[in-house]
Amino acid sequence: MAGTGGADSRRAAARVVVFPLPFQGHISPMLQLAGALHARGLAVTVLHTEFNAPDPARHLEFDFVAVPDAIPETVAANGIAKILALNAAMEASGHVHGALASLMASASAEREGEPRRLACLVIDSTLTATQKATAGLGLPTLVLHTGSAACFRLFRSYDMLHDKGYLPSTESNLDMPIEELPPLLVRDLFDPSKLPNKEIGQMILNLATETTTNSSGPLHKLIASTNGGDTSLLDQDHSCIEWLDSQAPGSVLFVSFGSVVHVTQDEFTEIAWGLANSGKPFLWVVRRGLVLGVEKQQLPDGFESAMEGRGKVIKWAPQQEVLAHPAVVGFWTHSGWNSTLESIYEGVPMLSRPVFGDQLATGRYVADTWKIDVLLDGVLERGEIEKAITRVMDENTGVEIRGRAKELKEKVRMCLESSGSSQQAVDKLVDHILSL
Ligand code: UDX
Repeated sequence: MAGTGGADSRRAAARVVVFPLPFQGHISPMLQLAGALHARGLAVTVLHTEFNAPDPARHLEFDFVAVPDAIPETVAANGIAKILALNAAMEASGHVHGALASLMASASAEREGEPRRLACLVIDSTLTATQKATAGLGLPTLVLHTGSAACFRLFRSYDMLHDKGYLPSTESNLDMPIEELPPLLVRDLFDPSKLPNKEIGQMILNLATETTTNSSGPLHKLIASTNGGDTSLLDQDHSCIEWLDSQAPGSVLFVSFGSVVHVTQDEFTEIAWGLANSGKPFLWVVRRGLVLGVEKQQLPDGFESAMEGRGKVIKWAPQQEVLAHPAVVGFWTHSGWNSTLESIYEGVPMLSRPVFGDQLATGRYVADTWKIDVLLDGVLERGEIEKAITRVMDENTGVEIRGRAKELKEKVRMCLESSGSSQQAVDKLVDHILSL
């Protein structure tokens, strides 16, 4: 990146603290952003909870400071409740305020005669307590919204969606188009009133928009050294790459539902038989805890022999490497925003099965706006799964979505070139941080 000597020395004098929400889909983009800032000369401290702590050994370029989170184990198991509990505990304990105050003090004493100024804090959009904790410290705070800009706009439109009667949704209005937000249908909305604890759903929705002031492009490829393993909380099984090497180019369906989505036992069985009956080679990530309420999930009897060596099941994949592999021709995803961006970056068309939150709207955009997936909705049933796999991998639909995915891949890569829009956005962000 071009820069004057003055700008370079200002960068070298500035430190940024980042604080991710401790879940895989949020930790990865925050550390990718941190990497992009570090590559532009800023020093980075990662503030993190003890729960799902990132591994400092994988990021020697950053400093790490742990904040005690004091969350009971019973709450830790529940993703949504965990976010609220984290915020409440942080507000009550004052740990974040204390950690930031001492970071500010040590930053200014960091290098004799040339202290590194703590320029700002970057927080995940759901960490409101952290935003409050900075009050009185005089530390500017930026917010990273880790979902898509389109979903952010949607989440901000919830008052309008209620006023116009789209929400709460009913069985009869699920397929109604939302005129104000094309191409969304009512069924693509995350409807807090449908959750067992609707207050919690509404609070999460509020958190996702309340703190946010900014959003960004595909972060995972902004720095050359990024590979997905750096930010992965679980150990990735690299044996699958060797297996992919043995498969024909453009022949394998990759199946992975991210880090937090669950399926029921019945859905798990239908997915297994849908894959086995499709006759296609597949690589399936069955992570620990994927099946609701089951500690160690069992594949159905007869599944191993039915797949005749065509399939490989692993616990956690090097996902970005898998998507970049020439053997992979399609990606069955839950439409998490990171997975969607990673798939688009590699030009891999999708079979989308969004489950909750932002995934619902993302799946719709991928299907109706970018037209690079087959959307699988309704009850998960082996026959329907088999048909959807055929549409993605074989039929005319497959050829069309593959062509469009390739075009989009080219566009995304242009954004990441040195003068591309994503790089420029980070350059502007660095300028903004230095001006704080
Ligand atoms: C969550 C939400 O569910 C998602 O909708 C939101 O946009 C971000 O937070 P998650 O469900 O985990 O995230 O999905 P996703 O955003 O796709 O992130 C999963 C990450 O885990 C990806 O970066 C993916 O590369 C990685 N991963 C997944 C692996 O490294 N290996 C795997 O086997 C599966």
